Amino acid sequence: MHSDALWESWADLLADQGYVVIDQFLPAPILADLLAFFKAKQDELTPARVGALGERQQLSDVRSDLTFWLDKPRDTALASVFSWIEESLQRWNRLLFLSLSGYEFHLAYYPTGGHYAKHLDQFRSRNNRMISCVLYLNPHWKEGDGGELQLYDATGEVETLRIAPYMNRMVFFRSDVVWHAVRPAKAPRKSLTGWLLYQPSDVGAVLGA
Ligand code: OGA
Ligand code: MN
Repeated sequence: MHSDALWESWADLLADQGYVVIDQFLPAPILADLLAFFKAKQDELTPARVGALGERQQLSDVRSDLTFWLDKPRDTALASVFSWIEESLQRWNRLLFLSLSGYEFHLAYYPTGGHYAKHLDQFRSRNNRMISCVLYLNPHWKEGDGGELQLYDATGEVETLRIAPYMNRMVFFRSDVVWHAVRPAKAPRKSLTGWLLYQPSDVGAVLGA
């Protein structure tokens, strides 16, 4: 889909800065499949939870998105999206010498006023999330709509890059060290969000809430 040289340059950025932002990531037909699927599932999204398994809680002051966990065997309409996810995983394995071997993804919808407080994506009790992936699905996003992905420096104290959630913009970042937040959305905000995992786990399925 994208050239070897492009993947290499993205891998360098991911390794050096801890994140990489890629515009026009998905080919148009695959993006169309994903948007159609999102529309079809819009009514099945449920409030997201925070924390893994036993410690999971629903805390709307921490995050206020609604999610729908994907399942490859069930969600056959997304076959092309899963193959793109698998290609990414293989590229990072090869270029960054990782041992990623699974993934978990959900659709996410932030209603107006929604946000996600500053956090890391690795849970204390479950640290196999290696690379976070967010693909934005907002055709009409404009300055003032909020919902940007806010990145922080290594201390988690200083704001660095603020990334607008433009349609078909993909962000990959390290799940273990990159502090981030979703700024309050002033308009509904959609994404496909997921994690490339060090070891496959069925926890994602259990988490599916
Ligand atoms: C998350 C998250 C960022 C975004 O779901 O863990 O940080 O931009 N999402 O949606
Ligand atoms: Mn996160």
